[in-house]
Amino acid sequence: MTDETIEIEIDGKSLSAQPGQMLIEVADANDIRIPRFCYHKKLTVAANCRMCLVEVEKSPKPLPACATPVAPGMVVQTHSAKALDAQKSVMEFLLINHPLDCPICDQGGQCELQDVAMGYGKDVSRYTERKRVVADKDIGPLIATEMTRCIHCTRCVRFGEEVAGLRELGATGRGEFTEIGTYISHSIKSELSGNVIDLCPVGALTAKPSRFTSRPWELEQMPTIAPHDCVGSNMYLHTRRQEVMRAAPRENEALNETWLSDRDRFSYEGIHSKERLLTPRIKRNGKWVDVDWQTALNVAKIGLEKIIASHTAEKVGALISPSATTEEMYLLQKLLRSLDCHNVDHRLRQADFSGQGLAPNFYGTPIRFKELSTLDSILLVGSHLQYEQPIVNLKVRKASLAGGKVMALNPIDYDFNYPLHAKVIAKPFDMLNNLIAIAKVLAQGSSQGLPGTVAAANVEVNDNIRAIAAQLKASNSSALILGAIAFNHPQFNAMYELAELISDMSGSQLVCLPEGANSAGAWLAGAIPHREAVSLDIKKPGLDAKRMMEAKLKAYITFGIEPELDCANPSIVKRALDEADFNVVVTAFSSDSIDAFADVQLPLATFAETSGSYVNAEGGWQTFKGTVKPKGEARPGWKILRVLGNLFDVEGFAYTTSIEVQHELRKQLETLQIKNRQERRFNMDTPHIEGLQRISTWPIYRGDSLVRHAESLQQTTTNDPAAVAMNSKLAAELYLKDGGEAVVKQQYSEVRLPVRIDERVPDGCAYIPGGYSETAALGECFGKIDIERS
Ligand code: SF4
Ligand code: FES
Repeated sequence: MTDETIEIEIDGKSLSAQPGQMLIEVADANDIRIPRFCYHKKLTVAANCRMCLVEVEKSPKPLPACATPVAPGMVVQTHSAKALDAQKSVMEFLLINHPLDCPICDQGGQCELQDVAMGYGKDVSRYTERKRVVADKDIGPLIATEMTRCIHCTRCVRFGEEVAGLRELGATGRGEFTEIGTYISHSIKSELSGNVIDLCPVGALTAKPSRFTSRPWELEQMPTIAPHDCVGSNMYLHTRRQEVMRAAPRENEALNETWLSDRDRFSYEGIHSKERLLTPRIKRNGKWVDVDWQTALNVAKIGLEKIIASHTAEKVGALISPSATTEEMYLLQKLLRSLDCHNVDHRLRQADFSGQGLAPNFYGTPIRFKELSTLDSILLVGSHLQYEQPIVNLKVRKASLAGGKVMALNPIDYDFNYPLHAKVIAKPFDMLNNLIAIAKVLAQGSSQGLPGTVAAANVEVNDNIRAIAAQLKASNSSALILGAIAFNHPQFNAMYELAELISDMSGSQLVCLPEGANSAGAWLAGAIPHREAVSLDIKKPGLDAKRMMEAKLKAYITFGIEPELDCANPSIVKRALDEADFNVVVTAFSSDSIDAFADVQLPLATFAETSGSYVNAEGGWQTFKGTVKPKGEARPGWKILRVLGNLFDVEGFAYTTSIEVQHELRKQLETLQIKNRQERRFNMDTPHIEGLQRISTWPIYRGDSLVRHAESLQQTTTNDPAAVAMNSKLAAELYLKDGGEAVVKQQYSEVRLPVRIDERVPDGCAYIPGGYSETAALGECFGKIDIERS
């Protein structure tokens, strides 16, 4: 964009425009409505529907406003007789084949074609021949197709090519025989596929889970914040009579633009899960009994009091979901600390806490998400970004499309929807040495010396390492992105310190993208054992998530999690919870596993049913209100904690709204000095792992209890069943084959899993995901495993 402007006239109004703008953009910016179907501001111009024809002075024929650049002195009429005649003619052509049965179409009432037809269509059709019929396609559990309704605007096709980076939908045939579909009959796999539902201007692509369940005029549109990643995508929940019926993106140019990931769009289905816990329950004589809130909270309070009286408060520990609201985090830690207990943590999958005392106020990004799309170079460290943070990945893809170079250091050779300039695929415990190697190459010819332990490390430097270092050094703007694999790695602290060192040496930004919607909020609210709210260090820190489980405490409080599916080492977690004397479980979902270890279950409202705030990785606070009443007897987490606080007679727990809780915390935060850089120690010791190494991540639709209960997401082909994946070389060595069964042993446990051959897994490693009951008996995400034929 330049500062130069030109003057044009549309419908008699004098307007300023910038050279290169299309007429439709200038009209939109000035509230002049031009009908359109194929144009979308986030997609390239196709100009194939011709609905936007307008009259332009001196042009013999009407011109498409979406494809006509402005010119000085241009005079445009959007509603002259000539323009209207052209628009009405196009409408008549479009309706030749489009079915005229809006009452039975799911899009009825929110259909761009229906709306435009009201303004530009005729009430009587002159077309009496047979309409064309197109067979529907099955493209998976998320999107329903009625391809007879398609008007070939190609928005869905362009979205796949230009935004999602996956050419899944395309046009075949010509003229009347044009059809939109998948080139090969298959389910759509994109993690952003649901956006074509919003883009499709007719009822050809609609949301399968909510299809034919409601009409748009019955729905209320409630703004909220997405509860899964550290971006804080803005979204709407569409509700009817206190039920969430569907979700849609809410435009926020700085965060999610006009898009929403499928994880955020369809996870609302979890709210309606049959496994929702609807009443408070207590275990009486080994049997579960439904009780009222007062009784359940009293049992919780008395049980915890007994443990504290006989063993001290240090024998109590609390784990909270990193997607809980900031208010829930703040109240849980406040309650525990008032009882003289600091054992509280949200870092459920982290394995290395050695640097926590030196950590920044929270792990986040020093640059705005949207700035990522302008960078020259990006190095992903331990991240399958596309499936961890789909919206951030869009920004990285934009950078790549603009000529930026994306590189990766990962334990699996992941496919990305952009090319990688260079990549290093290393076993988990070789990742650190590769970071050291990058630092060493950067240090060559530089006056900046390396810290002793880094300089002393004996590491191999290969061409890929040199290419990564050279690209970072040559860039004017670059970033390292630390993803979930890095955060959950047993050498996280050393990796973080090296990433910081590399970013300093190369002038890059260090962007940290932890899991969960509210990790930043958790750090600020004090849901960590070594700092109180607002980052005040504690003289005698409590136990972190890992040590809490290893220490076999006497009582646990779990909040918004399914411990065996959400924590790094499920076998240790199960042992700790089974052996504890008393467990209070605040949960939205019940399960056999929770029934087995809990003593009290308190039904928790989901994100849609509560109010609160999330702090995204930029440090931005976003507050939201409840959109529907909680199911059954479930209650918002902050209210449950407030009442518990009152029962324990904790001072300062008389909140009447979640906003009061937030204000209390934010008042204290006013004095916080933001510290974004970690002080370094550079402990570069790497354990020697004999034999096979496990690689584990949480697949996108297994990452938290809400998505795990969203039925349609569970049916997608992206959601592979639990398996042990290895390359064919290892499979041959172990006499295993694709589809066969293997016995996987880790520490003291073993499970049987189907074998999947995946050449992206490096030699000497096997990939076994977390978040599945089938793998929940195993141990740490990374470390030694044994695999045998069953
Ligand atoms: S399916 Fe919808 S978005 Fe795709 S080309 Fe057809 S009308 Fe356009
Ligand atoms: S919107 Fe301009 S041609 Fe389709």
